[in-house]
Amino acid sequence: MGGSGGEEQFQRRKGSSVMKSLVVYSSKSGNTKRVAEAVARGLGEDTVLATPADAPDYRDFDFVAVGFWIEKERPNFEVQKYLRRLKGKKVGVFFTLGADPASDHAQICLENVKPFFEENEVLGYFMCQGKIDPARVKWVRQMPPSEMLSTEHPAHWDRAALHPDVDDLARAAETFRSMAASLD
Ligand SMILES: Cc1cc2nc3c(=O)[nH]c(=O)nc-3n(C[C@H](O)[C@H](O)[C@H](O)COP(=O)(O)O)c2cc1C
Repeated sequence: MGGSGGEEQFQRRKGSSVMKSLVVYSSKSGNTKRVAEAVARGLGEDTVLATPADAPDYRDFDFVAVGFWIEKERPNFEVQKYLRRLKGKKVGVFFTLGADPASDHAQICLENVKPFFEENEVLGYFMCQGKIDPARVKWVRQMPPSEMLSTEHPAHWDRAALHPDVDDLARAAETFRSMAASLD
């Protein structure tokens, strides 16, 4: 892999070759953004961090990390739109959700996520809990319990409110550091 055009500033040395990584993320209330920044740190200082709206052409990169938040058990809509274009890449996937990653609900979300990456080679998935947007908490509190998503029960909110925490961010960085190393 060699440098091209004026993009050298986005490249870093990995072993004897140059590797270029792109992190594309979508975040409404900031949780996924914080994880995206940790992922970018794990991948190296020259990694390009972007949202779907301002992302450069992914075909110019060797590795693409895609991050999103879970909206009704699926990747949030903005990222779904971006994923329709993403094909034939080595990718790493990360997402935040209100539910405990060890819960059945989180496993259902993970299974729902996988088909969105079918046309790419996924090197790994990372998920962590993310606090629920206070505006949504206020809105959901007014709903009858029968209409709440299972993950939106008030009992879940307090636990989610602590995330992403420093451990989540360190694990995200380490997961993507190892993923990048596996590309050598
Ligand atoms: C409209 C909406 C739907 C959501 N649906 C789910 C869901 O189905 N499952 C879940 O675990 N969390 C759900 N969440 C919680 C978010 O995925 C979680 O708070 C996430 O960390 C938000 O990320 P952000 O701060 O990057 O926007 C939902 C949040 C909103 C606002």
